[in-house]
Amino acid sequence: SCSSISSIGASVASDPDSPVEHAKKAAAFACGDNYVKSGQKIGVGSGSTVKYFVQFLRERVRSGQLKDIQCVPTSFMTRRWLIEAALPVVDVEQCPRLDICIDGADEVDENLDLIKGGGGCLTQEKIVQSCADVFVVIADANKKSTALGDKYKVLPIEVVPVAYIPVQRWITEKFGGETHLRISSTKCSPLITDNNNYILEWHFPKDIPNRDWAAVHAGLVGLPGVVETGLFVGVTSAVYFAEHDGSIEVRK
Ligand code: 5RP
Repeated sequence: SCSSISSIGASVASDPDSPVEHAKKAAAFACGDNYVKSGQKIGVGSGSTVKYFVQFLRERVRSGQLKDIQCVPTSFMTRRWLIEAALPVVDVEQCPRLDICIDGADEVDENLDLIKGGGGCLTQEKIVQSCADVFVVIADANKKSTALGDKYKVLPIEVVPVAYIPVQRWITEKFGGETHLRISSTKCSPLITDNNNYILEWHFPKDIPNRDWAAVHAGLVGLPGVVETGLFVGVTSAVYFAEHDGSIEVRK
């Protein structure tokens, strides 16, 4: 590889030998074996669980079990992982229709509605998911919740930089709660997304009317300057949960 970015395996942040990481890998491989077929165009999500899905693709392509796939990444980092794995990378300009998209999540409720965007890649994740016929999630079992907000606590919202203050005001006025600008890990400047935007984190009120997340999403993206939200409502076909005893729970 000619990459200067840490290679597959080396950049799994957590201890790769921990039971949780083993479970995430097992879920990614089980999901891949059930859904991925030769000849498919595949959306590849972002995050540490998806990294194991990239490993799955690499291993199956190398062994000859999977042929003629094309991969559309949802973030800069996923694109690097795919390139390092020598997998064919295309984009939605070349492949606007995908057979499947497999991605992670930060929270999954009982309707399989999701909060995503913990890694700040929510806009490309939403675009690639929307191009796919089937959307499947792979997630650590601790992402399960009964009501969105129980686990992840905030909703990430991508905004055009110039609008971040008015958008914060409008969100509080229209929907309540509080928003904060996501700061980069250096703690000196805002986190900049792959699209050169900012991320707002909305600490939303607990009493969202009827828990109508589709309406909340529509209201938020209607605000000038809002690019996308981390709400994925009514789009998930199945979730592969990595249980910490090594088993996999599939919810459909
Ligand atoms: C990034 C995401 C990720 O899919 C989400 O954060 C899950 O990551 P992980 O698999 O590391 O728990 O939405 O924007």
